[in-house]
Amino acid sequence: MTSRAIVVLGSQYGDEAKGNLTDYIINADNNIKYVVRFNGGANAGHTIIIDNKTIDTHLYPSGIATDNIINIIGNGVLMNIMSFLWETFHLNDKNINLDYISKHLIVSSRAHVTLLCQQFWDYSTNKIGTTNKGIGPTMACKGLRVAMRMEDFLTDDYVVKIKNMYNYINSFIKWEPYTLTFPELDNNKSDSNMFNCHIKFETMEDMMNYELKIIDNNINFIRNIIKDTVSYINNISRDETILFEGANAFGLDTDFGTYPCVTSTSCITSACMSGTGISMKNLIERNVKIIGVFKAYITRVGSGAFPTQEKNSWSAMVQTVGKEYGVTTGRKRNCGHLDLVQLAHSALINGYDELNITKLDVLCFATEVKVCIDYCDKDGNIINEFPSCENRMQEMFPIYKTFDGWNTTPEKLKTIKTFEDLPINIKNFINYIEEYLYERLKTRINIKYINTSYSRNDKIIK
Ligand code: IMO
Ligand code: MG
Repeated sequence: MTSRAIVVLGSQYGDEAKGNLTDYIINADNNIKYVVRFNGGANAGHTIIIDNKTIDTHLYPSGIATDNIINIIGNGVLMNIMSFLWETFHLNDKNINLDYISKHLIVSSRAHVTLLCQQFWDYSTNKIGTTNKGIGPTMACKGLRVAMRMEDFLTDDYVVKIKNMYNYINSFIKWEPYTLTFPELDNNKSDSNMFNCHIKFETMEDMMNYELKIIDNNINFIRNIIKDTVSYINNISRDETILFEGANAFGLDTDFGTYPCVTSTSCITSACMSGTGISMKNLIERNVKIIGVFKAYITRVGSGAFPTQEKNSWSAMVQTVGKEYGVTTGRKRNCGHLDLVQLAHSALINGYDELNITKLDVLCFATEVKVCIDYCDKDGNIINEFPSCENRMQEMFPIYKTFDGWNTTPEKLKTIKTFEDLPINIKNFINYIEEYLYERLKTRINIKYINTSYSRNDKIIK
């Protein structure tokens, strides 16, 4: 039976090239009518390349660049309103205009709003190398029941709500001059935007007034896209396919990641329900398919345990060849070997039906490829329980299995179109991962998508 709901999730510490798969699915499966974000916020980063145009998205679902797709931002997403408006103008630069967006984007009235004061709070208390997009503070406000939600923009009371939020945060935060920076926009001359991509605020009040002004300039656009997405999404015909696009990743999950070096929203399969209001029954009736995306190695940004991390010429090479720096923050990503203990644990919790391996091409330079197959403690004892937190994870040492290198070049790899034609060492590597997961989970998970280059269509479908 065909799947009418597809969930794409990151299985490592983020940046697995999830967007590459969602772009592929959107373009390969013409039945995709809806692309839905359900978690994270402006911390997520995704580059879409269409017709030689490069579009950076953080909050927008990636269907926004493809005609006739309805994009939904669910209640589980934190709407950093300044980032959202920057992205909107960035899309305008790429000829995706406000009118098109208004007809193809719906934002949940229940989605919580991140204001610049929450972003500043994140920045001024950042201990774990967050993206400084206000994720933790917004979730804190949500927990404390003081946060703003998108529905607050529907009446003019939003001005008072914003002022209250600033006053609240000002009551405990230590202010220092703060510079807000976004990549320059191509066409930012229109008076209606008055959006400044690089602006320094001397006082919190200046920042608030600036934010109020930008929101006021765009309030009609914002009001137009707010909807009660719960009934909308549950009423989508069972004949049409919904793509749920996960942000962040399993290793950053607020409950199951390396706490406290995690993000603050849920990143696992169930987040697509709690972050949109779609029922489990609805997903089952759609024969939901869950796809985990993983790189042939691992990267991580910010601090946090990373048992297979390397700091040597190999990791420097992976960093360079794999262009491992962040879309959201531009930071260099730390690099390490593939960790199958982590992959198996994320498959256990997320229930992947299929997997997508990415960035095999980056490892073409290596003469051997290592994968972690077990953790041991400092005395060499094998650890059977997956560590529940950062401190415990820091005590893990990887036990490796080593494979021969691919013995091919990225140029040659890119031309291969079937699994059978792949170099034997890559086939062994992929077969081994599937066998390993079967041993651990007693269920077969097909590594169905094998990326042979960064290009969306350079994929072997197995
Ligand atoms: P995508 O969707 C990589 C990391 C941050 C930091 C921690 C907490 O591109 O895979 P936060 O700003 O969320 O409070 O930061 O989580 N992090 C990501 N790292 N890719 C992401 O998203 C990330 N989202 C959060 O680096 O360590
Ligand atoms: Mg990222």
